[in-house]
Amino acid sequence: ATAPEIHRGLAGVVVDTTEISTVIQETNSLTYRGYPVQDLAARRRFEEVAYLLWYGELPDERQLAGFKARERALRPLDRTTSELLARLPETCHPMDVLRTAVSYFGAEDPTEDDDSPAANRAKSLTLLAKLPTVVAADQRRRRGLAPIPPDPGLGYAENFFHMCFGSVPDPDVVRCFDISLTLYAEHSFNASTFTARVVTSTLSDLYSAVTAAIGALKGPLHGGANEAVMHMLTEIGDPQRAEQWLDEALAAKRKIMGFGHRVYKYGDSRVPIMQDALDRLVARAADPDVTRKAALHAALRHAMLSRKGIHPNLDYPAGLAYHLMGFDTPAFTPIFVMSRITGWTAHITEQLGHNALIRPLAAYDGPGQRPVPSDA
Ligand code: CMC
Repeated sequence: ATAPEIHRGLAGVVVDTTEISTVIQETNSLTYRGYPVQDLAARRRFEEVAYLLWYGELPDERQLAGFKARERALRPLDRTTSELLARLPETCHPMDVLRTAVSYFGAEDPTEDDDSPAANRAKSLTLLAKLPTVVAADQRRRRGLAPIPPDPGLGYAENFFHMCFGSVPDPDVVRCFDISLTLYAEHSFNASTFTARVVTSTLSDLYSAVTAAIGALKGPLHGGANEAVMHMLTEIGDPQRAEQWLDEALAAKRKIMGFGHRVYKYGDSRVPIMQDALDRLVARAADPDVTRKAALHAALRHAMLSRKGIHPNLDYPAGLAYHLMGFDTPAFTPIFVMSRITGWTAHITEQLGHNALIRPLAAYDGPGQRPVPSDA
């Protein structure tokens, strides 16, 4: 028999069709339901993008008002959930808290096993609404502060700032955050979305699929990179050190966080708009420490491009942007979850719409068949 062709990491393998989004490598473009993501980020708010991903079309005014009202009403956590999450050790990563929260939401939902489109839409909206409340309360707990309840009078982005800090920054900052949510929302068959589809393909429930997706996103080769970018910038410290640090890191075969992409080889389509948002945050801060961090960020980007020809991905500008917005570094990947929950759940619904169990093959290269030795 001829040896099977192996596709390690499923690179280049087309597994299924999707109507949700597409990346066109040649032109570095990304569209959600046909709309270029940079235009959505520039002209629409994240709530509208969430609606688009789930329902296939942008909402009209009445649809948006209804959607927002339902999301806002679902934000509070019940006491049992808050108490459970407050009992998790502070030494655990905030992604563990989020993973546990989603698993618990499933355990307490009597409709967990109802996988009808309507039930899954309701669960998706519940998660979209409640995840920010979990992330904000967890960040405050780690700062030794009491949680701040959600404010139903505020938009998704504004309310998150309110729950984290007790105040909403000026609209420029909120806008930069909202743009990041739109850019992070969906990216076709990335590792965490594919994880969600694998779990769904066994006809398991939505909470199980999302719990697994959170686990996949946590890793530094995927969503964990936005946190890792900040650790790396802190490690380098000074713009003058960027080149030498990079040479040493590359010589040690380290992966440089926030650079490279499985799909984009000539630059991530989402980077220019996020970099622009980051530049605005740096300019308005007018603070020497922020200017120094931005100079380091730029120096490392230039050095990486000249040494390796590798471009930054979205996590590179997003990591520093979240830092400048005041979020604690371990909360960066949980913020990614608050956005990607839209893409994951859109894919779960799509998978169920034309399900096939996802079960690939492996080429065995272990020992040949051999007898089990008799007992000694
Ligand atoms: N630092 C150093 N070298 C790199 C990097 C990097 N960040 N990215 C790619 N390369 C090199 C890699 O070493 C390999 O070189 P060689 O052919 O000499 O062995 C070549 O480029 C091809 O890379 P690859 O690892 O085979 O490509 P991949 O498609 O398997 O990896 C990746 C994609 C994202 C895992 C990788 O670029 C990486 O590890 N990046 C750092 C982590 C990161 O930023 N992840 C975020 C991904 S995008 C947004 C998200 O999901 O959150």
